[in-house]
Amino acid sequence: MGKETGTVLVIDGGGRGSALVDAYSRSPHVKRILAVPGNDLMQLVSEKPVQIFPELKTADTAEILEIIKHNNVDLVDVAQDNAIEAGLVDAVAKKGVPVVGPTKRAGEIEWSKAFARNLGKEIGLPQPEYGIFKMMEGVEYVLEQPDNKSWFIKADGLAEGKAVLPIEEKSQVKSRIRKLLREFPDAAETYLIEDWIGREQEPFEEGEEFSYFVISDGKSFKRLGSAQDQKRLLNNDQGDNTGGMGSSSTPFLVTQEMSATIDREIIEPTLRELKKLGREYKGVLYLGGIYLQNRKKIYVVEFNARWGDPEAQVILPGLKTDLFELSQAVVKKKLKNIDIQTDSKYRKAIAGVSLGYPNDYQGVLGKQIYGLDEAMKMNGIKLYGAGVKKEGNRYYAAGGRLFYVVGEGDTPIDAKERAYSAMARVSVEGNNLHFRTDTGWQDIERFRKMNE
Ligand code: GLY
Repeated sequence: MGKETGTVLVIDGGGRGSALVDAYSRSPHVKRILAVPGNDLMQLVSEKPVQIFPELKTADTAEILEIIKHNNVDLVDVAQDNAIEAGLVDAVAKKGVPVVGPTKRAGEIEWSKAFARNLGKEIGLPQPEYGIFKMMEGVEYVLEQPDNKSWFIKADGLAEGKAVLPIEEKSQVKSRIRKLLREFPDAAETYLIEDWIGREQEPFEEGEEFSYFVISDGKSFKRLGSAQDQKRLLNNDQGDNTGGMGSSSTPFLVTQEMSATIDREIIEPTLRELKKLGREYKGVLYLGGIYLQNRKKIYVVEFNARWGDPEAQVILPGLKTDLFELSQAVVKKKLKNIDIQTDSKYRKAIAGVSLGYPNDYQGVLGKQIYGLDEAMKMNGIKLYGAGVKKEGNRYYAAGGRLFYVVGEGDTPIDAKERAYSAMARVSVEGNNLHFRTDTGWQDIERFRKMNE
């Protein structure tokens, strides 16, 4: 592919999709970018023209195939889990169009938590004990276990990461199962109950979560980076689970040594097993892991078949390797020839959400958002959109997750200072903006200790 000849289609509409558009637009091979559904802020972070299709959903396979046909698309990047579950990658590949992302069968490692745990058990991955249930079957499983344990109950299917509930003590088991079935009737038709990692044996220990990304072409894989995200709505990890309120990269927790262990003991055997099962994995594989400091042990929390959101927003801006060339190498199974390079900046993303998100933010839709232009012009800041509508020069709330400010710096403190000074410029009419103020506190603390 020559200079400025390629048309790329990104399947995503949120901050992750915006970070992908930004990264593809930096490639000299890319002439224009399409996004389904895309969002109104994508053009503002792209060096190339962006066309969005806001009327479509990421799993509208027939319509997406039409777009590909009429626009001579050279590369499709399927970044969203629903589209992978719907078999979009398979449908695009069948048309002979280069596509990055796992097939439906390979992507089952994300869209069925039961499949992923059974695979992990088969090959001996470090993971919690678990059971798979329907209806109220899980009650007996918990009641038969020791009194001092705790568990998580999670839906088998996709639910934007929200269908996970803690069972801190046995007495809660019935109410938590009922809540999961009531709130996620489809995703939780089958559900898992698994040991709360760190609280399954004494001495109890709270683990620290991290997100770890590799890309595979089916023959080999390469590391993309790691991050830590904050999923709970409120400071101090309180409140509802969300799609992610902030993220930081590269976390000090994930050292080179830990990365080598993860590659050897988790990623490599998982990709090998998928291949053995006839589910060759091509695309980004995301390990959600947890590290227990005292036990010096890494556990698998889950796998996802895509970039994380908001982790992509803090890793992709630092990618120095041409993303178009990288994706082409995956398609052609020539990943071995690619050297993945990143800059050495530390980045922090903060999600700006509508007040009331994730459950009750309808009243915020249509309210004006102030200060986005000012924030995006600041030095060392990227501003990625999600649920924002642009009309003329004005911006309006059009979803629960509105936008992300990403601050970069030489240290976690520099990145934090930048990100929050950009956030200070933004408000939503009627005081309707919410964001966390403590995202990435772990690395701020580690950085302080390292420099004492
Ligand atoms: N940050 C969590 C996820 O993307 O699933």
